[in-house]
Parts: sequence; structure tokens; C-alpha cells
Amino acid sequence: MPLPELASPEMVGGLRIPEADFREICALVQQRLGIELRTGKESLVTLRLAEPMRRGGFRTVQEYLQAVKRDPNGPAMLEFIDCLTTNHTSFLRESSHFEFWQQEVLLVQKHRPEQPVWCAASSSGEEPYTMAMCAVEALGEAAYRQVRILATDISPGILEQAQRAVYREERLEPVSEAWRRRFFLRGEGKWQGYFRVKPEIKQMVEFRRLNLIEPLPPIGPFSSIFCRNVMIYFNSATRGLVVDQMRGRLEPGGYLFVGHAESLNGLDSKMEYVKPSVYRLAGLGAGAGTGTRMGRKTEEQT
Ligand SMILES: C[S@@+](CC[C@H](N)C(=O)[O-])C[C@H]1O[C@@H](n2cnc3c(N)ncnc32)[C@H](O)[C@@H]1O
Repeated sequence: MPLPELASPEMVGGLRIPEADFREICALVQQRLGIELRTGKESLVTLRLAEPMRRGGFRTVQEYLQAVKRDPNGPAMLEFIDCLTTNHTSFLRESSHFEFWQQEVLLVQKHRPEQPVWCAASSSGEEPYTMAMCAVEALGEAAYRQVRILATDISPGILEQAQRAVYREERLEPVSEAWRRRFFLRGEGKWQGYFRVKPEIKQMVEFRRLNLIEPLPPIGPFSSIFCRNVMIYFNSATRGLVVDQMRGRLEPGGYLFVGHAESLNGLDSKMEYVKPSVYRLAGLGAGAGTGTRMGRKTEEQT
């Protein structure tokens, strides 16, 4: 959940981050996560780092930063990443993507033995589980065998939550009663007010930790990649790098979905523009010619 900005950047929970240390934190976040922390985020950062600093018994921000930097994959660095990522997400977020994906990708390619897809910033799991549920809705039982979803995120803490697949009832607000019955188990007793994703949906999704700004491991090729609402935090050079890497993991004819507020405009992405926030790698995909692909224009024409 995004944390609120505080009125005073000076002191939060007894902690004040000196300006030079704030600059060092920004540089570290940029280097490790690709995220641009802008001026004005001081109180947000202070609020998020106060707890790990207190728990670790650090007396100064510098002492804490040295501990974080000591081991690039150590617990202090992983916790630092957990604290400074924004994990806002929801079931069926930006739902027009899912409708398009069902009609123009899943159903067009329904005769393929496998449809491998990648959810590249999966946060607490609502997005990849929505993809799995949409796949079952579109393809029926075949989806359980056919659709494989790789769900990745940089934050170990959020991946753990995603793998638990348990959500408070409020989180299911966008989910219809029919979907709740079909795809979730309703908690009872001490689990009253919680829902668990059914195991058959869960088994369609494999979670893995992956940093989008590092060289990618051998994954793919994918028929679709959802990379939504993460590139908005990157600068244009980093966005270019991330899109280049993802293009290399798409099948010819494969689709890239970015967030509704995001665009590849201004990047030399070498992807065809399909419609706002949907792109396609040129070439004939496995389902090409069988379906209903839409007429295309360039992004500048819209
Ligand atoms: C705002 S959430 C978006 C979640 C989901 N894609 C959606 O649209 O609802 C952004 C996610 O990107 C992840 N993230 C940030 N930087 C990343 C990076 N360099 N590599 C991989 N994931 C990253 C964060 O941990 C966070 O879970």
C-alpha cells in the first residue's frame, strides 16, 4: 500500500534523515531497483526506514546504510528493498487489459498446447491470480494444463505474501460473487473475513524473485508479458533497457501490456503499437490468422 506523505519532512517517528544520507539512499535505490526517488519523498522514506532502523538498533542513518550495503543480497538489503517498493495492486486492476487478453490472445491461441505468460511485477499476487482466473474463464478446464504464468517481483516480502494467496475480504471488492465461489475458498472460524485462492488456480502460477533491471535469467519465450505500473518509477533510460530485455523474451507476435498510465512512446521499442498500453512484437504468432486481431496504427496517430 502506498504510504501517505507527511506534512513535515523534518522528523518522522524520532528519525531525521540528513540530506547527504537521503541522496545516498536515492542513489542506492536507483542503482539496485531502477526506481527514481524524487525530492519531496524524504518523509515517505523516513517513515518506511524508521522501523528497520529501530529494530536493528542502528544509531545513525549512515550506520544503517553501511549494513545495507555490506551484502548486496543480505537480509538488510532485502528488507531495505521491501521497505522502499510500492506494492499497490488489486484484483482485476485496469480490467480492459484482461478482456483484450482473453479475446485477442488466449482465445486466438486456444489450440496451442501451451501458452506461457509472464507477469513481470506481480506484487502481492492479485495480478497473476486474476490472469489465471481470466484464463479459466476464457478457455475452461484446458487453461489448467495450457496456461503457465511466471510471476516475478523484486521484493521478497511481497512474494511471500503472494505465495500465501490469502486475502482479506476488502481486497476482493472488485471480484464478483460468481468468481468468489468459483476461484476462492471462504475462510471460517479464525479465518472469517479472509479468502484463499483455490489450489487449482494457485498451481498455474510460479513465483520467482527477479530484478527487471538486471540481466534476465533464461526464461521465456512468452506469448504475453504483463509489466504494469512499475516502469512508471523508472527513468527513460531504464525503461528502454527493461523493454529491450522483455522484447527478447516475447515470441514473434507476442503481446506486451504496460500500465494504463504508461507508454513506450519516446522509446525505440521496436514494438508495434496495438492500442493504448498494449504492444505487439512483429511476426506471426502461434495463433496468427485464426482470430480477430484489430487494425493497427502507430502510437503517434492516436
Ligand atoms: C505498483 S506495483 C504494481 C503491481 C502490478 N503489476 C499492478 O499493476 O497492479 C509495482 C511492483 O513492482 C515491483 N518492482 C519495483 N522495482 C522492481 C524491479 N527493479 N524489478 C522487479 N520488480 C520491481 C515492486 O516490488 C512492486 O511490487
